Amino acid sequence: MKVLVTGGAGFIGSHTVVELVNAGYSPVIVDNFSNSEKSVLQGLKNILGFDVPFYEFDCNDFNKLKEVVEAEKIEGIIHFAAYKAVGESVQNPLKYYRNNLGSMITVLEVMKEAGVKNLVFSSSCTVYGQPDHIPVTEETPKKKAESPYGNTKAIGEDILEDVIKSGEKMDIIALRYFNPIGAHPTAEIGELPNGVPSNLVPFITQTAIGKREQLTVFGDDYDTPDGSNIRDFIHVVDLAKAHVSALELLKSKSGNTYDVFNLGTGEGNSVLELINTFEKVNDLKLNYKIGPRRPGDVVKIYGDVAKAGKILNWKTQKSLDESLADAWRWEQKLKNN
Ligand code: UD1
Repeated sequence: MKVLVTGGAGFIGSHTVVELVNAGYSPVIVDNFSNSEKSVLQGLKNILGFDVPFYEFDCNDFNKLKEVVEAEKIEGIIHFAAYKAVGESVQNPLKYYRNNLGSMITVLEVMKEAGVKNLVFSSSCTVYGQPDHIPVTEETPKKKAESPYGNTKAIGEDILEDVIKSGEKMDIIALRYFNPIGAHPTAEIGELPNGVPSNLVPFITQTAIGKREQLTVFGDDYDTPDGSNIRDFIHVVDLAKAHVSALELLKSKSGNTYDVFNLGTGEGNSVLELINTFEKVNDLKLNYKIGPRRPGDVVKIYGDVAKAGKILNWKTQKSLDESLADAWRWEQKLKNN
């Protein structure tokens, strides 16, 4: 089965391309490299042993997207392509609404015209906001998003639901990611943050390698056991595999269904625990200090992933230790190159 992967050169997209091939699918990448690099394609080739077909354009471009979907005889789409910087989205909301919602609508319109049935959409646990109870299940009510970025995911899900309600012959799954970290164990692909990383793990690895002077922990006075925020950190390869499981499920559906799944480990770890684990696993000392809280941060969240276990027949296999060892191996590889 040929699967179009929009944003296939990105962090989660590239790892998903590998797992698709491992599972016998034929991925085709569309990426405009707005937040990724062409070197990712070489990394994929080093892992897979062949060039993954790719097209360079913005998937807001209906005509190009339709042309590729038809020419490649695409039967399923995994739509990753989106902007994801929370802070930037607050500064420039229109950029986020235009791109993230525009590209998703374009993908849906192309699917409609070209008769493509299966869609997997990248959503986020950000749709839960600061939940009243944790772990969150898929039934936990969505809350008003803290940022325009988060809102594009919440609205995106609503659009998908409406499209299915309208009777469209499609099967759609939205996957709500918790905090993806790590890198491919070969260190051929990994996270490539643009400029100063806003996410925790790339900031940690860049500090450890000497690219950043010091990590600031954003607050240690929260209502959590050690005072720092709690998140559900999931290895990107585990996350990637869930996309394959989602496609398997979609193939068994006969048209006009919508479902959502949490993708996390089911466990929460604090920011300070993560730092300690990073130091222990990689046998080094990290230069960090405690700083003020970051506005908009959720205090604690982790996911109940029983639904994905039962219906997608998926569960995580990699530990936090492995995630942080892989992230560090990747950072060292980047330095050597
Ligand atoms: C948030 C969203 C997530 C989104 C992601 C995109 C939530 C719950 N999650 O993740 O859906 O995909 O942004 O970027 O809203 N931290 C530090 N120092 C740093 C960087 C981070 O202490 O230099 C802390 C943060 O305060 C936070 C944790 O590390 O507690 C994780 O932060 P980050 O990696 O940015 O992810 P989220 O904010 O959880």
